[in-house]
Amino acid sequence: DHPPLVLGIETSCDETGIALVRGQELLTDVTASSMDEHSRFGGIVPEVASRAHLEAFGPTLSAAVERAGVSLGDIDAVAVTSGPGLVGSLTVGVAAAKSLALALGVPLYGVNHILGHVAVDVLVDGPFPEEFLGLVVSGGHSSLLHVRDIATDVVELGQTLDDAAGEAFDKVGRLLGLPYPGGPHVDKLAQQGDPAAFAFPRGLSRPKDMAAHAYDFSFSGLKTAVARVVEGFTDRGEEVPAADVAASFSEAVADVLVTKTLAACERHDVGCVVIGGGFSANSRLRELAVERFGKAGIEVRIPPIRYCTDNGAMIAALGSAVVAAGLPASEFDITIDSQMP
Ligand code: KG4
Ligand code: ZN
Repeated sequence: DHPPLVLGIETSCDETGIALVRGQELLTDVTASSMDEHSRFGGIVPEVASRAHLEAFGPTLSAAVERAGVSLGDIDAVAVTSGPGLVGSLTVGVAAAKSLALALGVPLYGVNHILGHVAVDVLVDGPFPEEFLGLVVSGGHSSLLHVRDIATDVVELGQTLDDAAGEAFDKVGRLLGLPYPGGPHVDKLAQQGDPAAFAFPRGLSRPKDMAAHAYDFSFSGLKTAVARVVEGFTDRGEEVPAADVAASFSEAVADVLVTKTLAACERHDVGCVVIGGGFSANSRLRELAVERFGKAGIEVRIPPIRYCTDNGAMIAALGSAVVAAGLPASEFDITIDSQMP
């Protein structure tokens, strides 16, 4: 007489994640990553990622089941990321999930990766409040969501119109000659620099942009502004003040994310924000969020970083919420949607 045991499968990018969740309790979470194979190319190579999922799936599943102390036959439902993400990577996960659900005779649920980044927080911080905002920031997405029920009632307030926050960091990392993925390196460098050294633009923050895009983000203009500054120093034969550039750039990104989220909290009278996605590791975002949401009396929930980067627990948590909400299972001809909204 306990909640169903849900297996979560995540393969949308370079992480093969498999986890088991019962209700809102995480039993196990195992992740394999192919990032080492991509870093020398300066970006994810889709075919390499797909092949790595195929290779890692079996051992990751075995490890998850063994560590949870359950057998495959105990699984009551299978949830899998069906989008958004890389076509080949998603296909490996969905094909594996179908086979497993069919063999075990249990329902299959295709779920949205971005919602998973929010759903996972329940496993560490406990039940969600009646409503909250979800800020999902990673290398692939920057979305602001108004959530009343993660399985049935989510409204997208805004998203990035060009680059994702992590993607902008990776591009600036490249400009500064740092290794890929540049995000964590830029973050580290920024901690030694002056955030007020350069006045970089806050995308979509001018009054005329705010009318249509109050909760949307844009980071490509910022990246271009950084490139101009770096080129300026290089052209003059001067050394680029990399730490100051990194700090001013980080400040611009964190400021616009927090400012817009705070404005949305006020507009919708919401007192809680959940931040997820790999970019939530960013130290300036964390500081500014704690400081400014704290001042406004808004609760901030940020899961530990291993649950912010891509993982199986996020998909198992979302699957569990979908099962609990009584939503219908996916059909067995379910396909993937790499551009899923
Ligand atoms: O969620 P994630 O692991 O993968 C995606 O789904 O994209 O996010 C990784 C992204 C990368 O762009 C990475 O450079 C960035 O998040 N990132 C950071 C930091 N840690 C990871 N960016 C800035 N500061 C960090 N500390
Ligand atoms: Zn992700």
